[in-house]
Amino acid sequence: MTLKAFRGELLSVPQDPRDNPEAVRHDLDGLLVVENGLVVARGAYADLAPRFADVPVDVLPGLVIPGMVDAHVHYPQTDRIASHGEQLLDWLDRHIFPAEKAFAERAHADAVAAFFLDELLRNGTTSALVFPTVHEGSVDALFEAALTRDMRIVSGKVLMDLGPEGLCDTPAGGRAESEALIRRWRGRGRLGYAVTPRFALSCSDAQLAEAGALLAAHPDVLLHTHLSENRHEIAAVAARFPEAADYLDVYDRFGLVGPRSVFAHGVHLSERACGHLHDSGAGIAVCPSSNLFLGSGHFDFGQAARHGFRLGLGTDIGAGTSFSLLYTAGLAYQAALAREDRMDPFHALHLATAGSASLLGIADRVGALAEGQEADFVVLDPAATPLIARRTCGVPLADRLFAMQILGDDRTVARTYLRGQLAHQRH
Ligand code: GUN
Ligand code: ZN
Repeated sequence: MTLKAFRGELLSVPQDPRDNPEAVRHDLDGLLVVENGLVVARGAYADLAPRFADVPVDVLPGLVIPGMVDAHVHYPQTDRIASHGEQLLDWLDRHIFPAEKAFAERAHADAVAAFFLDELLRNGTTSALVFPTVHEGSVDALFEAALTRDMRIVSGKVLMDLGPEGLCDTPAGGRAESEALIRRWRGRGRLGYAVTPRFALSCSDAQLAEAGALLAAHPDVLLHTHLSENRHEIAAVAARFPEAADYLDVYDRFGLVGPRSVFAHGVHLSERACGHLHDSGAGIAVCPSSNLFLGSGHFDFGQAARHGFRLGLGTDIGAGTSFSLLYTAGLAYQAALAREDRMDPFHALHLATAGSASLLGIADRVGALAEGQEADFVVLDPAATPLIARRTCGVPLADRLFAMQILGDDRTVARTYLRGQLAHQRH
């Protein structure tokens, strides 16, 4: 039994604060008590200190938030971040598919997976739903590296039997490799599996049907894909599936829409699709930096709120331009404003933590810094740069948090802890 305690300013937002203003949980001088990697007590230092008088206490310098949860990111695109010049479909052909071909080689996958996971930790991200490539070995590389680091990573072999040469599988081969990976990795560390058809355009009808069969056969896996991101993509989907009511309906016809489904983007959604997202329990990983970078548009937070479907936040590296979910939360605010909506910084923090955790089906384990959860947390430094120090000095919590979302990034992450163990410390 190992008990330890952390003293500092604690902040978490387990529920959407628009539904419940009480959802913001803030302990200005708080204590977090951790036993074997789990939070066993959290509250005001003055209340808890007598109960845990014998427990050694680490004082955390800064604002302590839950480890952030990236609800959509591509690890093989790490080295193609900031590739110039194209919208989605041309960008995939010109920059991304050539880069993903290199993951046929296991040593390359190992090297990129290691860098990618360390970069997540540097940015305060402790859990993520991750696209690898079509290669089975790209999943093994990521899962092995995540297991070594004790990170919560959900991933699954990309299905794309209509992909370009060198990035193409078959419906039967994709199914068999997915089954093998599920068998190999189920129950290990903090890993989870997601059936991952790349998007409707990269999969034949037969492969989308195999994806639906996989999802039905394994009640513990997620479905992870892209939805309604870019107008040219949407037009191509409509041309290929004229009988479908909309893009979401394409996935629905193959049994891919339900409470375990995570769809990236959803920038251009019909009212019908929004209603069905709500009714089915599916969620959207909103990726504002990617949407801006590829000229895809801005997610409609007002429409999503009217329908009340679940939302999380994703960086979508390498279309996304930052690994930092803190910074991405600031962009979510700006995307909301661009469509005449509002987002307060607590809501943005909720999206980057418990909201994303809910999409990944891990909200009982992480995202709220609550009793019974795994002690994954981040220490944000409000004096990370001279400008952030100046802007956060002596102002209320909401303003401090907002300034860190707008001005901050990896520089603002002083420390990242996984299950109570220090996993990253800024130099
Ligand atoms: N749609 C299909 N594949 C991709 C991808 O790799 N990135 C993004 N942003 N959208 C996609
Ligand atoms: Zn993506």
